[in-house]
Amino acid sequence: MKRFFRTKSHLQLIGEADSGEHKLHRVLGPWHLTLLGIGGIIGAGIFVLTGQASAMYAGPAIVLAYIISGIGCAFAGLCYAEFASMIPVAGSAYTYSYATLGELFAWIIGWDLILEYLFGAATVAVGWSGYVVSFCKDIGVIIPAALCNAPFAYDEKLGMHLTGAILNVPAVAVVIFVTVLLVIGIRQSATFNGVVVMIKLAVILLFVVLGIWYVDSAHWKPFIPANTGEYGHFGWSGVLRGSAVVFFAYIGFDAVSTAAQEAKNPQRDMPIGILLSLAICGVLYVLVSGVLTGLVPYAQLNVPHPIAVGIDAAGKGLAWLRPLVKLGAIAGLSSVILVLMLGQTRIFFSMAHDWLLPRGFALIHPRFKTPYVATVITGGVAMVTAGLFPIGILGELVSIGALLAFAMVCAGVLVMRRTKPEAHRPFRTPWVPVIPLLGILFSAVQMASLPLDTWIRLLAWMALGLVIYFTYSHRSSRLHHTHTLP
Ligand code: ALA
Repeated sequence: MKRFFRTKSHLQLIGEADSGEHKLHRVLGPWHLTLLGIGGIIGAGIFVLTGQASAMYAGPAIVLAYIISGIGCAFAGLCYAEFASMIPVAGSAYTYSYATLGELFAWIIGWDLILEYLFGAATVAVGWSGYVVSFCKDIGVIIPAALCNAPFAYDEKLGMHLTGAILNVPAVAVVIFVTVLLVIGIRQSATFNGVVVMIKLAVILLFVVLGIWYVDSAHWKPFIPANTGEYGHFGWSGVLRGSAVVFFAYIGFDAVSTAAQEAKNPQRDMPIGILLSLAICGVLYVLVSGVLTGLVPYAQLNVPHPIAVGIDAAGKGLAWLRPLVKLGAIAGLSSVILVLMLGQTRIFFSMAHDWLLPRGFALIHPRFKTPYVATVITGGVAMVTAGLFPIGILGELVSIGALLAFAMVCAGVLVMRRTKPEAHRPFRTPWVPVIPLLGILFSAVQMASLPLDTWIRLLAWMALGLVIYFTYSHRSSRLHHTHTLP
């Protein structure tokens, strides 16, 4: 029994990271890391979900929903920052669990992170395809529906059924592009991400700075619309439900920690990358949602491209911004796919390094210095998923996966402070145990607000993971072998 809870010492983890054939390229500085965070964070959440959450749940108080969700993520962010500076290796939450709660928990979190990163990338690729199709239509290019939709769909009445479409070709194409970029190199990936982040930040700032002049403050009244009588539909319960929906918009800051083994000075720069990217995005989200709900009555925002609706409401003066917003969203979503896939490859890499996955996943390309096998496999699975399945099935699994990982990381900080009080912590989460406990509470409340279906899928996914662990991974584990060798 004991062996399932064996931990790996954090010093051993750090020592292994820079040794032998498993060495990644340390090229990223604080700006790269912050841009990586912003690249991973700003995407489908702000460009799509804001409208839906405000029209259906929170009204103009979507601004409060963003603030609440942002504060909750900050609790988790502070815990990630402590671990990422203390154990700067590629596995992120997976590795932190290995160091604190033991191998079985590490496996559970590693397996869970596939939901956040791999399925997250596939989800955003489907959203990306939607924006590309709509942009092409605006300029007169029609992509046939059979080639830009999922062949499978799911609803309660019909269950899983065929739609008649063949393949979501744009979603597959963007995943192939990102996979190639990730194989070629971390520097190239970071440069591409930097350019894309500049584009999306420019578009968002233009929307806020120009849009604010067209705001009609009457649209903000009442700021919290009265509850309709049903939990979660406006009123304070609506604000809370809205915050659970827009939580998706913050996912990605944690992916910065998976680049720890490629950071030049991770002890100092990991906390900067994680916390600064989260803070910048939080402020932008509050501004964008405030301006948007000031431009249009919130009830009109339940559309796939709410920002474009906001621009239309501002009248002719801002019409030129409309195509730019779509291009900004297309660029923006592509960097989210990049960062989430990057996170996934580094986690597979770490799991394979510990022999919980076949060792091929940890192979580093001799020239590009990237974990190319893990990258190609991640790309292959993301491609199939994005090409065949609709966004609805994937989306909520991503949030529940991320929330579970956040809770484990917060719990890990509490455990590590007890078991290794003397360990060197270049960054310390303030007000322990209050902040980690609040982080756990926030994640638990958000998870509880997700539908039963999502929970069932999470449990099914975890059950599959446990079968693999008990039949393969724990036998093959490096830790198990080093303890059983004579
Ligand atoms: N935060 C990312 C997005 O909103 C996942 O697309």
